[in-house]
Amino acid sequence: MKLLTGEILSNEKYNDSLYKMEIFSPYICKDAQAGQFINVKCSHDGVLDPLLRRPFGIFNIEKKFNVFSMLYWVKGRGTKFISGLKRGDMLDFVGPLGKGIDLSKGENNILLIGGGIGIAPLYLIAKLASGMKKNVFFAAGFKDNSYLRWEKDLIELKINYAVLTEDGSWGEKGLVSDYVWNNIKLFKSFDIYCCGPRDMLKTLQNIYKDRNNKVTALLEERMACGVGVCEGCAVKIRKGKKGFSYKKVCKDGPAFNLGEVIFD
Ligand SMILES: Cc1cc2nc3c(=O)[nH]c(=O)nc-3n(C[C@H](O)[C@H](O)[C@H](O)COP(=O)(O)OP(=O)(O)OC[C@H]3O[C@@H](n4cnc5c(N)ncnc54)[C@H](O)[C@@H]3O)c2cc1C
Ligand code: FES
Repeated sequence: MKLLTGEILSNEKYNDSLYKMEIFSPYICKDAQAGQFINVKCSHDGVLDPLLRRPFGIFNIEKKFNVFSMLYWVKGRGTKFISGLKRGDMLDFVGPLGKGIDLSKGENNILLIGGGIGIAPLYLIAKLASGMKKNVFFAAGFKDNSYLRWEKDLIELKINYAVLTEDGSWGEKGLVSDYVWNNIKLFKSFDIYCCGPRDMLKTLQNIYKDRNNKVTALLEERMACGVGVCEGCAVKIRKGKKGFSYKKVCKDGPAFNLGEVIFD
């Protein structure tokens, strides 16, 4: 992990709120693993407002070009600031952070379940797993068609996928968790990685309670320091039959066994 700056090669607007930023960084491209994230300074040099860096998953890595990217949704001040950055500007960030995911172990079949911007960190898992010749299926759910432009990234992976939207404006109409439930037998011998809103994760936790799939959730808690110091990102993780302990999403995660997460 290092404090880094990287030249922004593009900051492409996918729709009013969704952007993909490509950054030149040999260090990230050499060292980062699927599931890791970066913590980005969201203000100009010498300005400390907003004070806290903002965490973003690593969306894609193109090793050959030393370029990585992040896919982000504009929510508040920090993401609004980075959406205004232009090609040639420098991005100030810390990374790679969090624990990487070892994809070499486990099943040869991988199911990715993403809700909204939760698709972002799953994309690199899909790419690396399919590069290992694993059979990868991506199930992605959205409220509407605002992520439509992202489908071109998905198509580039040459994997099977399903898109669900709540209003039916793109792909099948419905919830991604319902899609998974309706196709539960199809994904019987798959290792599963999911990321998205809490309600989706809670539903998936119920669906997979008594099944033998290994289900890993990538959590996106609000963070402060991003390096395990402030305890701002603590989550409850089951310990034994009735107990629990606190783990830090930034240091112990962001990937956790979904069955062990306690959603209060
Ligand atoms: C490990 C990790 C990886 C992430 N990866 C991505 C990613 O790849 N792409 C992406 O777009 N976002 C990602 N996020 C979420 C992203 O960090 C937040 O959207 C961002 O910090 C918002 O900053 P802001 O200043 O724009 O909004 P703020 O002004 O800080 O907040 C605006 C609104 O968003 C809510 N909010 C802020 N952070 C979060 C959060 N973590 N979860 C839910 N609600 C939040 C606030 O409560 C508030 O209502 C990730 C978060 C974590 C912890
Ligand atoms: S954000 Fe500070 S400990 Fe995780």
